[in-house]
Amino acid sequence: MNKHTILVTGGAGFIGSNFVHHCLMENDNVVVNLDKLTYAGNYDNLRQLSQNANHIFVRGDIADPSMVSALLEEHQPAAIVNFAAESHVDRSITGPDDFIQTNVVGSFNLLAATLKYWNDLPTADRAIFRFLHVSTDEVYGSLNEADPAFTETTPYAPNSPYSASKAASDHLVRAYHHTYGLPTLTTNCSNNYGPYQFPEKLIPLVIHNALKEVDLPIYGDGSNVRDWLYVSDHCRAILAVLASGRPGEVYNIGGNSEKTNLEVVRTICSILDQLAPRAGDASYASLITFVADRPGHDRRYAIDASKIRMELGWHPQETFASGIHKTVQWYLSHAAWVENVTSGNYQSWIETNYGARR
Ligand code: NAD
Ligand code: TYD
Repeated sequence: MNKHTILVTGGAGFIGSNFVHHCLMENDNVVVNLDKLTYAGNYDNLRQLSQNANHIFVRGDIADPSMVSALLEEHQPAAIVNFAAESHVDRSITGPDDFIQTNVVGSFNLLAATLKYWNDLPTADRAIFRFLHVSTDEVYGSLNEADPAFTETTPYAPNSPYSASKAASDHLVRAYHHTYGLPTLTTNCSNNYGPYQFPEKLIPLVIHNALKEVDLPIYGDGSNVRDWLYVSDHCRAILAVLASGRPGEVYNIGGNSEKTNLEVVRTICSILDQLAPRAGDASYASLITFVADRPGHDRRYAIDASKIRMELGWHPQETFASGIHKTVQWYLSHAAWVENVTSGNYQSWIETNYGARR
C-alpha cells in the first residue's frame, strides 16, 4: 500500500476539487482523482495541477467494477474519499435515475471493490486504511424553527430523491463496516459555498444572474433556512476525520451559520452593490423575484457539530460574512470560468427548472 496515496472520487466537482487542492497544498499526498466529468465535473477546476506529478487524473465512473478494481490494484491507496455523486436537489426532482445509478449503485460498487482490495492487504496496512464517505445533512430531513439541530443520532428522514439516494449510500457504508469490518468514516455536512461551485446552486446562481442583471429567483417566500459552511472549512474537517476519526463513526459538519434564503440573497446583493455597482446605482436587490416553490422543499437544516469539535478539535475558520465576501470576489475575478461552465447544456437546464416557475 502507498501510505501517501488517496483515491478521491468526484474530485473535479465543487467540493472535490477544493479538497484535491487542499490535499496537495498541505502535505506529501499523492491524489488519484477519479471523476466521470458529468455536467458538474470540470477539468478547469484542476487546471493549476496539470504539471503536478502528485495529481493523477482518471476519467471514469465509480459504478464501473473492473475499472475501479484495476485502479485500486495499480495505485494501492491508503485511503478513499468518496465525493462522487449527483448533488442537485432540483435535478433529482426532474430526473432521479442518475441519482440512483451514481449515488446508490456507484457507492455500492466502490464499497464492494474496496472491500476486496482491503481484504487482500497485509494486516498492518488493513489497520491504517480508511474509506471516507462524504454525505449531507439532508439525510436527516427537515426541521421546524424550534427543533434542535441535527446530531449524529437524529433518525434519517430523507425527503427528496437526492437525499434518499445519499441516505441509501450512507446505510451501505454503515453496513460494510458493521458486517465486514471495513474501516469506514461518514461525514454529514451542511450547505457549502465558495470557489468552483456550479452556478445551479443558490449562491453562485444568484451571483451569476445578478451580474447579468436578470431575475434572482427565490423559491416560495424565501424563509427556508440553510446552515452555510465555507468550502475550505469542509475540506479541513474531512482531513481531520481522515487523520483521527474513529472507524465506523459518523461526524456531522456545519458552519453554525443559519440563514434564510432571502438573507443570503440580500447579503450577496449588498456586496455586489459595493464591488460591482450597477449603472444608475439601483441595488441588485431589485432583481429579487419570488417564484413557485420547490416540491417537497425542506424547511430548515441545522447541524450540531459538537462531536467533531470535541473529538477532533475542528471548528470553522470563516464566518458567513467573511466567506461570502471571498466567494463573491472569487466569482468576480473568475468570469472566464463562469463563462466556460455556463455555455453548452447549462441554458437548457435553466429553461427546464425555471421556465415552469415563472
Ligand atoms: P458536484 O455536483 O459539484 O460534483 C460531483 C462530482 O462527481 C462531479 O465532478 C461529477 O463529474 C462527479 N461524478 C458524478 N457522477 C460520477 C460517477 N458516476 N463517477 C465518478 N464521478 C462522478 O457536487 P459537490 O457539491 O462537490 O458535492 C460533493 C459531495 O459532497 C457529494 O457527495 C454531495 O452529496 C456532498 N455534499 C455536498 C454539499 C454541498 O453543499 N454542495 C453539502 C454536503 C455534502
Ligand atoms: P441549493 O443551493 O439547491 O441547495 P439545497 O437544496 O441542497 O439546500 O438551494 C439552497 C436553498 O435555496 C434551498 O432552500 C432552495 C433555495 N433556492 C432558491 O430559492 N432559488 C434557486 O434558484 C435555487 C437554486 C435554490
